[in-house]
Amino acid sequence: MATIEKSVSIERQVNTGFDVQRIREDFPVLRQTVNGKPLVYLDNAASSQVPQVVIDRGSIYLEDEHSNIHRGVHYLSQKATTAYEGAREKVKRFINARESRECIFVRGATEGINLVMHGYGRKFIGAGDEIIISAMEHHANIVPWQMLCEEKGARLRVIPMNDAGELLLDEYDALLNERTKFVAVTHVSNALGTVNPIKRMIDQAHKYGVPVLIDGAQGVPHMLVDVQDLDCDFYAFSGHKMFAPTGSGVVYGKAALLETMNPFQGGGDMIKSVTFEKTIYGDLPNKFEAGTPAIASQIGLGAAIDYLHTIDRKQAAAHEDELLRYATEKLSAIEGVRIIGTAREKLSVLSFVIDDIHPHDIGTILDQEGIAVRAGHHCAQPVMQRFNVPATARASFAFYNTKEEVDVLARTIERVVEIFS
Ligand code: ALA
Repeated sequence: MATIEKSVSIERQVNTGFDVQRIREDFPVLRQTVNGKPLVYLDNAASSQVPQVVIDRGSIYLEDEHSNIHRGVHYLSQKATTAYEGAREKVKRFINARESRECIFVRGATEGINLVMHGYGRKFIGAGDEIIISAMEHHANIVPWQMLCEEKGARLRVIPMNDAGELLLDEYDALLNERTKFVAVTHVSNALGTVNPIKRMIDQAHKYGVPVLIDGAQGVPHMLVDVQDLDCDFYAFSGHKMFAPTGSGVVYGKAALLETMNPFQGGGDMIKSVTFEKTIYGDLPNKFEAGTPAIASQIGLGAAIDYLHTIDRKQAAAHEDELLRYATEKLSAIEGVRIIGTAREKLSVLSFVIDDIHPHDIGTILDQEGIAVRAGHHCAQPVMQRFNVPATARASFAFYNTKEEVDVLARTIERVVEIFS
């Protein structure tokens, strides 16, 4: 009963409607100062912050519910199992999966993509087959497919992009052929912010009977995702980029495909029976969840979804779009700043370089002013090669960011330019 009462009070603490100053109060980390300056957190594409209700939900689990799941007949194990499976139900509704067993809990998008590579790729892709990815993928959606190609003698084909950072869809169409066995493409580029027309791309692949995996790590935190409407075959995302703890994440897969796949890892909880002669695997989703999972983190993901339901996500997305527009305008006006990634369809991410100032120097000076951005290749080295830069500085927005923070960013970048000129 204590748990239920605490849960109810959590729901009451959450705000309704979209009001950025009010929403900021939900995120305790944002209250701090860094180097004597208010924290300006613009590294949301790397990891977003966690609202108090999600922190509280984790505490409730650890204080009142902690036990292993699916294994015990005892009270606490049943409580933990109910909370863990409850989180899966929340995920199912959040992405509109047909069934909760299609939502496999993983440590994050990277593990989700690796699960599909091992479970589907190693079983169904062979010598001479082709896998299509895009030029703007995160390493997590390149390296597993390269490993598979190397193992099987398959070939990796890459959809090119233009100077704005938009995929060349005619080239994509031309790459699809009877040898194509898989397409893996990002929903939103973490390095450029480009939003890809994935529904069209999925439709096109399906004309060849080819399954499509979407790397949704940067999509889910900013957009309403409906996997049935998209008709994607797999969709992977990380909890820690959508206001949940690290170690949480999901790979959605169509049940019919998941059923045919090999398990990813072997161990406890993924079996029906084991003898030394033969193991019978468990049903979905257990077949893909070997060992004790990140129970507290996945329950936290469920709480983050509850939190997102309390805000108007369309208004939140409009607010983020306005921040991106405003920041683009302000930074473009600073001499020497070049924006990397100028796609027409873009969200949340503003990558830039300044003449020959190294992005790490930009990041370090911004940090002195309490501004957190990411500087580097963003785990997307081929994107850096395409734009002929060693690295970029990247500001990435969440709905709790403000125009005042963009002003601080722009003023500090002006100072960076002054210091180096
Ligand atoms: N993939 C994360 C990023 O873009 C870590 O920063």
